[in-house]
Amino acid sequence: MYKGLGLDLCEIARMEKLLNDDRFLSRFFTEAEKEYVLSRGKSSAATLAGLFAAREALGKALGCGLDFDLKEAEVCHTDQGAPYYRLSGELKDRVGNSRLFLSISHDGDMAAAVCLIEGGSET
Ligand SMILES: CC(C)(COP(=O)(O)OP(=O)(O)OC[C@H]1O[C@@H](n2cnc3c(N)ncnc32)[C@H](O)[C@@H]1OP(=O)(O)O)[C@@H](O)C(=O)NCCC(=O)NCCS
Repeated sequence: MYKGLGLDLCEIARMEKLLNDDRFLSRFFTEAEKEYVLSRGKSSAATLAGLFAAREALGKALGCGLDFDLKEAEVCHTDQGAPYYRLSGELKDRVGNSRLFLSISHDGDMAAAVCLIEGGSET
């Protein structure tokens, strides 16, 4: 059973300006995410925009907007590069047994993310 769906767009230029702002990065992203972003070279801003869109997409899918600690929704990647959420803290409790699915894309000026919530007993 599907319990929530969220879609978000993030302008890449907005993130370009924030790439060197460690206060911003450290507030919303984990060390591993920061390393991943910076390892992407010319695509760093696009990747960062995708990670930010992933937070907003999750907030929409949960129906709570950005009313959660964004660092608790870390985005990791499989060996093939596919993104997935690794939750922690209160957010992990809030999502409970539900499964989260995430897809990210970026092209031109924008990055996009879609989050789907399936099953579980409490969201
Ligand atoms: C998946 C793939 C086709 C996307 O290519 P693209 O259209 O140029 O990329 P988009 O801008 O739309 O999306 C990029 C995002 O896709 C996601 N992604 C990367 N590899 C992925 C994969 N194997 N499965 C799902 N998502 C993937 C990442 O979040 C990536 O963002 P990042 O580079 O900032 O980390 C390409 O990365 C690829 O060929 N990967 C390896 C082959 C593979 O496993 N394909 C599976 C899908 S058939």
